[in-house]
Amino acid sequence: MSHLIAPSVLSADFANIQRDVEMINGSKADWFHIDVMDGVFVPNISFGFPVIKAIKKHAKKPMDVHLMIVDPDRYLSAFKEAGADVLTVHLEACTHLHRTVQAIKALGMKAGVAINPHTSVNLLEDVIADIDLVCMMSVNPGFGGQKFIENTYNKCHQLHQIIVTKKSKAKIEIDGGVDLQNAGKLIKAGADVLVAGNTVFGSKDPVKTISELKNIH
Ligand code: DX5
Ligand code: ZN
Repeated sequence: MSHLIAPSVLSADFANIQRDVEMINGSKADWFHIDVMDGVFVPNISFGFPVIKAIKKHAKKPMDVHLMIVDPDRYLSAFKEAGADVLTVHLEACTHLHRTVQAIKALGMKAGVAINPHTSVNLLEDVIADIDLVCMMSVNPGFGGQKFIENTYNKCHQLHQIIVTKKSKAKIEIDGGVDLQNAGKLIKAGADVLVAGNTVFGSKDPVKTISELKNIH
């Protein structure tokens, strides 16, 4: 199966959010990547439920919601109601990750686990068979437009091996600093989903850039 492209709405123009959502609808993108930041888990605040619901109203593709928040268990059902199809929590923010993953799935969403650049993929071994997605951070979470961390390629290879060994169906998503230069190498290393914020929304022709990301082999 070909890799998926998930433009990060964090880099969109929030004064023209409907226009940018329609642009993604009309492009070769597969998912909407939605970054929720609480100012505690990460040093930035993005947006919450009213904005997610506004995006959902126009979005014609699955909503991939990435929670960069502490204590996500408190809000799982609220994110389902807001329109999340894939809900990703950070391993570093969950004391009982297995329980959180089961709760996400019980609500009828796909369950994702995100790991920070310093977190070893080995920590996913005992949960990988239960999850649908690993969001591997290739920047420190909190901001769009940061520089890609090169060690991500190694981690991606390692995680791919764990997924094969454990017979998991989890997809590997790479989040942060993805561009037209590193996308091919990431796919070769085993990436299934590429998130792109600045590369898409900073482009003169975002629809064309999404096609280019999609057509990389
Ligand atoms: C970073 C977010 C990313 C970010 C990606 O904390 O999780 O999804 O929006 O943006 P770029 O592609 O610009 O690094
Ligand atoms: Zn993200």
